[in-house]
Amino acid sequence: MTEFDTEGLGPQAFPVPRGCPFAAPEAYREWREKGPVTRVTLPTGRAAWVVTGYHEVRAVLADPRVSADVRHPNFPALVQGEQEVGAESRPFIRMDPPEHTRFRRMLLAEMTVRKARRMRRDIQRVVDERVDELLAFGPPADLVRHFAHAVSSTVMCELVGVRRADPAFRRVTGTLGSQVFGGGSSTAEGASEGVGALSSVVDDLIAERAARPGEDLLSRLVVEQLNPGLVSREELVTTIAILIVAGWETTTNQIALSVLALLHHPGLWEQLRADYSLLPAAVEELLRALSVGDSIALRTATEDLDIGGHIIPAGDGIIPLLAAANHDHNVFREPDSIDFGRAEKKHVAFSYGVHQCVGQNIARLELNIAVGTLLDRVPTLRSTVHPEEIRFRHDGIAFGPEQLPVTW
Ligand code: HEM
Repeated sequence: MTEFDTEGLGPQAFPVPRGCPFAAPEAYREWREKGPVTRVTLPTGRAAWVVTGYHEVRAVLADPRVSADVRHPNFPALVQGEQEVGAESRPFIRMDPPEHTRFRRMLLAEMTVRKARRMRRDIQRVVDERVDELLAFGPPADLVRHFAHAVSSTVMCELVGVRRADPAFRRVTGTLGSQVFGGGSSTAEGASEGVGALSSVVDDLIAERAARPGEDLLSRLVVEQLNPGLVSREELVTTIAILIVAGWETTTNQIALSVLALLHHPGLWEQLRADYSLLPAAVEELLRALSVGDSIALRTATEDLDIGGHIIPAGDGIIPLLAAANHDHNVFREPDSIDFGRAEKKHVAFSYGVHQCVGQNIARLELNIAVGTLLDRVPTLRSTVHPEEIRFRHDGIAFGPEQLPVTW
């Protein structure tokens, strides 16, 4: 075992922008070829280690000596304010077992494959309504604003029982976005205000559900968890708020970037149009290739860790890069190509281990329905600009296009 030698290398700045929107940044490959971990400097000025190999990323994410607790002094927050706000509100994504397990179980019961399938009809209705509006509005249109964002915010709100026509819908969606949470330009005050605003809307929703429980997830959590005292009001507010934040921008960006990838790569859109049975495999391959949640998983070593022969000292921050793992040449053949028939399918776009995305069944369903409905109802869809002309968000919760001008 050797201490990692940073001499002469100098810490690299992180995050690094992608050269190609459909692949991991080129730097990840260079870093992986030099060793399994790389020392980086974060926008907060703090140093951390990024992990770039598929097996090493999975090993770190499954290691009980690696903590997700936001209160560690060297927690590798990517933006100002994230650690302070997280330490105060304590969302379960930034907790460790056994504390984390209680909240995760509470949501898991609501997000099984079976429950997600039961949502199929509702998600299809949401998507159909958004396509109706898109067709009435354009062409041309911005597929991010008029479709991806509209679909994902409506699905997240309906999950907690808020319909688009409900005045609470605007209150919830008005508080969301990287400009509030996690954007490169965010500040501690801005993040704190953003969390406060969303928490206050969620708290009002809980009060309404407590008075008149409905059929939605929030009502069930109020009746089954809050009322018997299994969870406090404050804990329920934070859990619902993180659920909405975690499920919104990720899915918006994955829908928009998937459509752009399908339109940009010759033949992919037509391949799916010719054979709809390829859709689930295509969605899975796009999750791997695009890896929009590349650096959502933020960790700290609680003991000295040996990663592929390099020691990460206890207390240091670690970022297992999901896009790097999903583009590791040693595991995925021609990782930058999008191949619906790919044999290697075990990607980590939803992370791995105890924090693996709790909403992945819903996300998959939403992606299948969103892309499938566009293929069916807007078959001549095409982008009016080249990917080079599109502005991408590199510093938010998830990677994706800010706008996607389309016509049909
Ligand atoms: C394409 C869409 C999505 C992607 C790429 C994605 C990605 C991720 C990733 C990478 C993590 C793990 C973070 C870690 O290891 O620390 C995560 C966790 C989480 N996601 Fe997702 N997600 C998506 C959609 C959703 C949706 C739709 C929901 C809600 C319905 C959701 C709710 C959550 C929650 C609550 C967690 C925290 C789980 C825990 O800490 O135990 N996500 N997601």
